Amino acid sequence: MKVDEIMDVALRRGFIFPASEIYGGVSGFWEYGNLGTLMKRKWEDAWRHHFLSLDQNYYEISTSNIMPEAVFKGSGHLEHFNDPLTACTKCNQRFRADDLITDACGKNAEDMTTEEMELAINEENIKCPRCGGDLGPVQLFNMMFCLDIGAAGGTKGYLRPETAQGAFISFKRMFEVLRNRLPIGIGIVGRVYRNEISPRQGFFRLREFNQAELQIFFDPDTFDEHTSFDDVSGTPLRVRPLDRDEEVEMTAGDFRDTYGIGRFYVYHMVKIQEFYLDVLKVPRDKFRFRELSERERAFYNKVHWDIEVDMETLGGYKEVAGIHYRTSHDLSGHQEMSKQKMQVNIDGKKFVPHVLELSFGVDRNFWALLDLAFAKEEERTVFRFPPRMAPITVAVFPLLNKQPLIEKATEIYSQLASIMQTDYDRGGSIGRRYRRQDEIGTPFCVTVDFDTLEDGTVTLRDRDSMEQKRVGENALLGEILSRVAQ
Ligand code: GAP
Repeated sequence: MKVDEIMDVALRRGFIFPASEIYGGVSGFWEYGNLGTLMKRKWEDAWRHHFLSLDQNYYEISTSNIMPEAVFKGSGHLEHFNDPLTACTKCNQRFRADDLITDACGKNAEDMTTEEMELAINEENIKCPRCGGDLGPVQLFNMMFCLDIGAAGGTKGYLRPETAQGAFISFKRMFEVLRNRLPIGIGIVGRVYRNEISPRQGFFRLREFNQAELQIFFDPDTFDEHTSFDDVSGTPLRVRPLDRDEEVEMTAGDFRDTYGIGRFYVYHMVKIQEFYLDVLKVPRDKFRFRELSERERAFYNKVHWDIEVDMETLGGYKEVAGIHYRTSHDLSGHQEMSKQKMQVNIDGKKFVPHVLELSFGVDRNFWALLDLAFAKEEERTVFRFPPRMAPITVAVFPLLNKQPLIEKATEIYSQLASIMQTDYDRGGSIGRRYRRQDEIGTPFCVTVDFDTLEDGTVTLRDRDSMEQKRVGENALLGEILSRVAQ
């Protein structure tokens, strides 16, 4: 199976591995190896570059992973951040009830109430997948990880379940720092923690994972405005609205008119689609926005479309990100809880800003890159990553493990390594060295041979076409950079 083949390379070559592996691991915790860390960082940097440059007032900050209980009372997580749990009455194994129903009969159970889930479990005669026992009642389980802060204890804290709360509780200060204007965007990239009932599908549902989120604070009266909307209104969006049972394409302008969603929201949908199609090079027919029903939406969202990528290893379209209209839910909640004013005063108009959230799961996007790029060919295994996402951009080889080829290859390696992620390999035949790089998705290989010493040219080999071309040493860097930028 493709998933096993990817896992084999991922483990063997240092992309990802289970956390605490030598102690048997704990479900839902994974770690990044050397290549995985490089690629994750490239994804995050591409995200920063794309989204933080959408407006001069969009910035990244870095906030605490542990926050006091009051934050999550204010945000509503302690009350509402729950998943439906059912336990086997025989072996006591716990399961996410909606997952069991989906697995048993293919229904999307995310929008069912706990009573409807119990009914479905009875009607479909769903039993414990582990021992066949009867399942107990469906109850709500809060997914927050609780902590006792300080030596004396007594101060309750929680690991953050989303980066977003850091932006909300910093809003007051950041609004002043950014000179009392709107919109402002506060981005946070970092780790989050959820005590998932049944982490599964390998790398997909984790208990500790990474998010890249941008909270955009704006005046709610301007939800249907964006100064650059006209530039994007003709862009076709790939969407799967609730009233359609398959993807449709419609221009951003028509989409706004048909579904009555503000231009501010739709503009950012276009920019998200651009990120997936143009930067991450996701094939168009494997990308879509999916509208969520009222019951499926997170408790804080008024308008909620997920971004989904069709992944063979996960059996179809899966959520990798979301675009959420959170209204003033969070700022109002924190205002009430902290007694600090979140209201702004812009030209005499006083209001609590609303928030548009662009929320991305870094790890799911990372997995999507592996899934979409992996290919098993007759002679080789290859990841066809977009060059700017590949962990290693270029590998340099001396044709033979001999001087003066080694000296020349080392010199070229050093030049390239100061600009981009570069590997150096002098072991085995050139063919084997190409295969090793193909397997980790390195888009370019440079071979230094005896002609290099004579005429200053090297062989530049392309991973996808396997084409080899002689390039002058002086033109090499420019050639690689221009291919990476394509
Ligand atoms: N701040 C909004 C928020 O957290 P979410 O839909 O719960 O929204 C955002 O999460 C993204 O985080 C998802 O689209 C998904 O990519 C990722 N994500 C959520 N739960 C996850 C989990 N258990 N493991 C890995 N990624 C997860």
